[in-house]
Amino acid sequence: MTIQTLPSGVMSTLQPTDHPFLNGPFRPMFNEYIADTDSLRVIGEIPRDLDGIFIRNTHNQIHQPLGMFHPFDGDGMLHAVHFHDGRATYRNRFVQTTGFLAEQAARRSLWAGLLEPEKASRRGSGAMGAMKDNAGTDIICHAGLLLATMSQGSEPWRLDPITLDTLGPDTNWARKIPDGISSHYKVDPETGEMMFFNYPEHWPYMHYGVIDRNNRLVHYVPVELPGARWPHDLGITRNYSILHDTPHFFDPELLKRGQHKMTFHPEMPARFGVIPRHGDGSQVRWFEAKACHILHLANCYEDGDEIVMDGCIMPEPKLHPVGAADGKDIYARIKARLDKHNNPTMMHRWRFNLRTGATTEQYLDDEITEFPVVSNDYVGRPYRYSYNVLYQPGEWLFRGLKRFDLHSGAVQRYEYGPGRYGSEPQVARRLGARDEDDGYVTVFVTDMNQDRSECLVLDARDISRGPLATIVLPERIPVGTHACWVEGDRIPGEHRDPAAWA
Ligand SMILES: [Fe+2]
Repeated sequence: MTIQTLPSGVMSTLQPTDHPFLNGPFRPMFNEYIADTDSLRVIGEIPRDLDGIFIRNTHNQIHQPLGMFHPFDGDGMLHAVHFHDGRATYRNRFVQTTGFLAEQAARRSLWAGLLEPEKASRRGSGAMGAMKDNAGTDIICHAGLLLATMSQGSEPWRLDPITLDTLGPDTNWARKIPDGISSHYKVDPETGEMMFFNYPEHWPYMHYGVIDRNNRLVHYVPVELPGARWPHDLGITRNYSILHDTPHFFDPELLKRGQHKMTFHPEMPARFGVIPRHGDGSQVRWFEAKACHILHLANCYEDGDEIVMDGCIMPEPKLHPVGAADGKDIYARIKARLDKHNNPTMMHRWRFNLRTGATTEQYLDDEITEFPVVSNDYVGRPYRYSYNVLYQPGEWLFRGLKRFDLHSGAVQRYEYGPGRYGSEPQVARRLGARDEDDGYVTVFVTDMNQDRSECLVLDARDISRGPLATIVLPERIPVGTHACWVEGDRIPGEHRDPAAWA
């Protein structure tokens, strides 16, 4: 196959700008490609037992913004590499949300972004009340189809995992959930169930639900919180889900007036609600822990009487206000707000004792990392390895990966080198794998030195060796974050051979 550019004709009206999140590693792209390894350069050798699809979502701005641009405002674009039998096919496609199609038809921006929602020319959906449904943040596969979302701001957009064609909002259950959905669903590898939550700004402030392996909504219950909250993730174990109520939320008085000012309350505890997988709100057991905020969990599992929850703790969320100034200063403030070195996060473990009601917690590391990922086959189960991203100081860019062996305490790291920036990785166990780390780690890297992008395949047992294979993409793609791995035998749905995860 030669490199094909799809005749999608995406129209961009972006004007030259010095905005840091529209230039350099963040420069958006407008071509949509299909290309395989007959035409793409491969450095090294793609393992023949790497079988499945690595997919990353990316905010990719198309039109001249109506106001100040925030890097989460761009339309969703998926980048995917489909591995099979030692070969790979790359595709990238926009998530064709209603907002995307309306702005393509209008040939301009119709929605403003996170920073100046009052400049929107029409009503929008979303956590901020006026955002375009860009579906550019999260990506996961369930029941044989992709789900792309923007947390609490998006329909659950379904896409074909191979072609990346947008199929539309989920037709089975989206209409039954009026308060929307969060990002970061969790799929049980054994049952194929997908657990989710939402967090509306009105009573009861949270719902929790389960969608079965056949994509039927089988459980949806209210979970009453003390007020509007801003959770980002949930955890699952074999029998429970863990819901988050952290003291980092919008000022309730300002919220009554429609204003969203995030406030951290260090005097309040964080609360974590352990709910039986199919339990109702009255069965939630709340555990208190020290004040913090959490974006992303690594994994959760049951250990005797205890629920173990590992993730990246933000012990003291510091807010760099944005939105009140014009010109370059605002860009610097957006960067400062996103710079993890101003707002450190590191691996942390909470234990919730179901017998005593006690919480214990401990730091697992003191280095700044985030976007922890584990093998799909170990989600909700005792596990050993987490692969996290390392940050470039002063930037919202990922300079490398850190592998945690949570049994031995050993760590490995792999850094991409100067001018090279990665994304959230994924763990791809090889065909016939027996051990948790028997397989590969995949990640996209944007190389500013060579003006190109690559998909790297690393040995999950020894990431420090560097890539086993580097697939050079047809065009430099902008950096992005959340990704997923779809095992080849999950493409038809959540009906895997038990041998796949046993
Ligand atoms: Fe996230």
